[in-house]
Amino acid sequence: MPSYSNQQHLGQAESLWVATSPTTNFPSLVTAPPHDVIVIGAGIAGLTTAYLLQTQGVRVVLLEMGKIVKGVTGYTTAKVTSLHTLIYDYLITHFGEDQARMYGEANQAGLNMIAALVDQLQIACDFKRTTAYTFTCDAKESKNIEAEVEAAQKLGLPASYVTQTPLPLAVKAAITFSEQAQFHPRKYLLKIADAFINAGGRIFEDTRVFKIEDGTPIKVTTARGTLSAAHVVIATHYPIYDPALYFTRLIPHRSCVLGVRLEEKAPEGMFIDSVDEYPTMRNQPTEDGEIFLIGGENYKTGQGGDIIARYERLEKVAREYFPVKSVDYHWSTQDNMTLDRVPFIGKIDRSDTNIYVATGFGGWGMTNGSAAGMILSDLILGKENPWAQVFNPVRFKPVASAKPLITEGANVAKEIVGGLLPKPAAEAAQTLAVGEGMVVHHEGERVAISRDDQGRLHAVSAICTHMGCVVNWNNAERSWDCPCHASRFASDGTVLHGPAVKDLEQKQIEIPQPVVDRQE
Ligand code: FES
Repeated sequence: MPSYSNQQHLGQAESLWVATSPTTNFPSLVTAPPHDVIVIGAGIAGLTTAYLLQTQGVRVVLLEMGKIVKGVTGYTTAKVTSLHTLIYDYLITHFGEDQARMYGEANQAGLNMIAALVDQLQIACDFKRTTAYTFTCDAKESKNIEAEVEAAQKLGLPASYVTQTPLPLAVKAAITFSEQAQFHPRKYLLKIADAFINAGGRIFEDTRVFKIEDGTPIKVTTARGTLSAAHVVIATHYPIYDPALYFTRLIPHRSCVLGVRLEEKAPEGMFIDSVDEYPTMRNQPTEDGEIFLIGGENYKTGQGGDIIARYERLEKVAREYFPVKSVDYHWSTQDNMTLDRVPFIGKIDRSDTNIYVATGFGGWGMTNGSAAGMILSDLILGKENPWAQVFNPVRFKPVASAKPLITEGANVAKEIVGGLLPKPAAEAAQTLAVGEGMVVHHEGERVAISRDDQGRLHAVSAICTHMGCVVNWNNAERSWDCPCHASRFASDGTVLHGPAVKDLEQKQIEIPQPVVDRQE
């Protein structure tokens, strides 16, 4: 994922994790060695699955569209916790106590596996045990916190009710989980990648998968040739292969994160607001001093409007509550929510397929992604897994799912139509400033035009190659984001994030001058 906007007042346009860890340079696919499993996607779920399989004697090839741990996992807030805002009271109500317990245990196991690997492989990744808090400043919400504490304690989770936190906010109530953790996700996963390679695994970067064909064996077609394997794991965040209508069951969101320096020591712990899940906060040590992460401004991907304004509003919030000395980094997270709030981890559809999926972590990818590695490696090895049932992707929970499904379907239908007929290209390009993008009308088609820092105009089709929705401009990250299922494309049309696997088509249009630069 490229470095993007030049909004200097918001600090470096990069995640703290990517900015403070080495880049990787694994080869692209030429010929693959003999293998049993192909894992597609090298974030926390893909790398953990690959590592666990390879170290148990299964030969794995890992394919990554770009560079490893530079997709969604490289842009997280990296909280390693089983405290997922407020979820356990809900899970007991909708899934029953046994399945709620499985969810909690799987996430605690994900946390403990990370701790064990950090210890066993001596990974220097700033791993630190700390307390997780879900807090509210609204007295009316206290009863929901109390219910969550009761539910979590019933499930054996390390929950307590408190009315005081280290935050400088008027907190009315909070649930805490003790002995949770925080870390630097890229420092951790780059070492997991090394350990995977040392165990005999192979990683191929810059190797985009275009097609997956189920069968015996399963065929995986990349831009650099076709591979086959007995088992395939799709760990691409949003699934790039969809035989079971996942696109109707996932709701993608983005949210903004600022990495700021404070005039004083940042509060100790990891925090999230119970009402709208934002702001979310935690600290992170760096060689250059402590950075405080504050996240918020959650929006549906491709429907966020002016994203720079979102970062600026978040900065205002940060300055209102904390003595901010400087804003050093800004980036965005991307999360997939499932309709019933439980991830999809397991066989992608029929029980006799050997294609597996891990997605829908709901913003809690560090523990859910690690649990996914354990569940999928067990399933592939034919072992019983104690938590697989609750995450089974083909479950059906009609009561929990019906309303958001209808709302989501209506939302997508609106985006396929694409709104009002846009301006003609020639007229729009006259006023398009550096850093701006716009969907225009050109020779009967919708075309997405944007202007880069050198004043050059880029023109690509505005029709998403996944299912034909009209893309929208993200002015902070200078990308074309699809409002339907969250595919993202660079200004030249290159895929940044699936489910799309094909770039937006390049378009040629004559551009009238002059260029207007509104940033001067
Ligand atoms: Fe599905 Fe664009 S991501 S239509």
